[in-house]
Amino acid sequence: MYKILKKQQLTPLIFSMEVEAPRIAQSAKPGQFLIVRCGEMGERVPLTICDFDPKKGTVRIVIQIAGVSSNKICSLNEGDSLTDITGPLGKPSDFMEFTPDSLKSKHYLFVAGGVGAAPVYPQAKYLHSLGAKVDVIIGARNKDLIIMEEEMRGVCTNLFICTDDGSKGEKGNVTVLMERLVNEGNKYDMCVAIGPMIMMKFATLMAKKCNLPIIVSLNTLMVDGTGMCGACRVSVGGKTMFACVDGPEFNGYDVDFDEALRRQTLYRKEEQQADAAAGLDFLVRK
Ligand SMILES: Cc1cc2nc3c(=O)[nH]c(=O)nc-3n(C[C@H](O)[C@H](O)[C@H](O)COP(=O)(O)OP(=O)(O)OC[C@H]3O[C@@H](n4cnc5c(N)ncnc54)[C@H](O)[C@@H]3O)c2cc1C
Ligand code: FES
Repeated sequence: MYKILKKQQLTPLIFSMEVEAPRIAQSAKPGQFLIVRCGEMGERVPLTICDFDPKKGTVRIVIQIAGVSSNKICSLNEGDSLTDITGPLGKPSDFMEFTPDSLKSKHYLFVAGGVGAAPVYPQAKYLHSLGAKVDVIIGARNKDLIIMEEEMRGVCTNLFICTDDGSKGEKGNVTVLMERLVNEGNKYDMCVAIGPMIMMKFATLMAKKCNLPIIVSLNTLMVDGTGMCGACRVSVGGKTMFACVDGPEFNGYDVDFDEALRRQTLYRKEEQQADAAAGLDFLVRK
């Protein structure tokens, strides 16, 4: 059992939880994720490691209510426990292969859509701690859906906010800001985009237009998270890959986003039925 030490509500549908998990906290790296279960018959829910503290023996998850299982996890309180956590899973971010010294002079652009701010946070934190220049764009539909703004400000050089309705920051989506920053003369060594699949598709198209290399983190359907079930299959550079073990980060230019978008909706009917049965009809995403 993994005890929840701290719970915070970030928006009506997004919660942050600090969970006691000493062994995972010892080995976690930016870019990796966990599979969390709530209840003996609970579904396996993949969630990014948003932060980890090896000294305290804790990991932090930031979770959005998207359906029945995420709602179950979010309904737990401080003092309650998650039934089990598997991880860290997936490959650490690409830059973890480089020496800290070689990263000092790099200029990164992170693009976070909605709850994508959670996976961006540990990456920006690591690079910023080494002295790299880190620009972060956080985009959301409106100001109430912007999360982790102040924390992110503490781990980056420049923070840019945009909202679809203009209620905070620049009006428009993240690609508008990406283009502006490049046109203003910023020479990025790498862009990393994490958020809804559709956002990552359009961020990749903009990166191509701006001649910018881009990495995306794929939030495909996952079951085992260990490369055996095939649920997370994606086509990358014409090859079949499994996001849980070959990723979740991939070169955006190589990802077949249209196939990935189609596969994400494979169980939509069943998800809607489960939402209705659990009284979660307020979930507007479907
Ligand atoms: C590597 C990875 C990291 C993730 N990190 C986070 C995170 O940090 N915070 C966060 O809020 N969400 C994260 N997600 C998404 C999260 O796993 C889903 O929102 C969750 O599984 C939804 O389950 P549900 O039963 O609540 O909703 P459902 O109604 O079952 O599904 C809602 C939507 O969530 C997605 N989904 C459903 N089941 C799965 C599954 N088994 N695996 C992946 N996606 C699924 C589908 O797009 C689906 O349409 C991540 C996903 C992956 C693959
Ligand atoms: S989740 Fe089963 S192979 Fe990746």
